[in-house]
Amino acid sequence: MFSGKKSLKSITQLSYEEIEYIFENAKLFKNFGIPKKYKGDWVLMFLEPSTRTRLSFERALRLLGFETYLFNWDSSSMVKGENLKDTVLTLKAQGFEGIILRTPINKHYVEIEDIDIKFINAGDGTNEHPSQALIDAFTLMEKFNGKIKNLKIVFVGDTKYSRVFRSDSWLFKFLGAEVGICSPKSLMPSNTELLPVDKIFHSIEEALKWCDIAIFLRIQKERQGKKLIPSEKEYLETFGLTKERAKYLLKTGKFFMHPGPVNRNVEIHEEVIYMENSLILHQVANGIYVRASIIDFLYKEIT
Ligand code: CP
Repeated sequence: MFSGKKSLKSITQLSYEEIEYIFENAKLFKNFGIPKKYKGDWVLMFLEPSTRTRLSFERALRLLGFETYLFNWDSSSMVKGENLKDTVLTLKAQGFEGIILRTPINKHYVEIEDIDIKFINAGDGTNEHPSQALIDAFTLMEKFNGKIKNLKIVFVGDTKYSRVFRSDSWLFKFLGAEVGICSPKSLMPSNTELLPVDKIFHSIEEALKWCDIAIFLRIQKERQGKKLIPSEKEYLETFGLTKERAKYLLKTGKFFMHPGPVNRNVEIHEEVIYMENSLILHQVANGIYVRASIIDFLYKEIT
């Protein structure tokens, strides 16, 4: 059933049974606490900024019993030109047994695939964010009696540059959901026919009417070479969660999510970010349990 994985690079590498196991284990951790059952040292290698991912992995590792070490990119020898492979070989020689890697480079992990060290992809460029996808699915399952199948989930916003969209949409389709997208032309991927997407909306009103859950995506300002939205105010009006749209979702019993960090008054009006049907802080809270479960899963023997 389990292939004894040592890494989580992509959400697509997990089988249905493995995903189920990660969810069940996360549920146990949430209900009964995270057991301090390990010893060993992990490195948090964040070559890009992060609040949620870094601190939740750090907390999850410590609760499991590990020691954690923060790798500061700007004071490391990577600044002097040392590549990822030599850096990770150095960390392994120092006795570290696992690394959490966030990087601006798509599939940066290819450089370290043949190194015998545990590894979790904490977001690579515009490619993937597999732990966020597991957190988002787990959060929805809590709200919908353990089921994702047949839910209608629409992603609103920057589906072109969002790694969360790439991992989430694959996982939601894999679990039987219907996936829609609603993006401005400039933020729409060019290859939608190859993506796990059932519906493309050009009007946010239509998208919100269709969906059970709307996931608003952060405008990835740091990955856009040029200005891709006319103005933030106009973006909120055409693709954002305004107060009126938030009221509509609440009235019709629908939820909304955002992986964070939210650009206030761009993707979501600041007065509605945390309203009753917002799952944003549930996503954050579940991050600890799901990430602890992913780490625990990497120590599972082959069965
Ligand atoms: N969702 C997410 O990855 O947030 P951070 O960039 O704060 O880790």
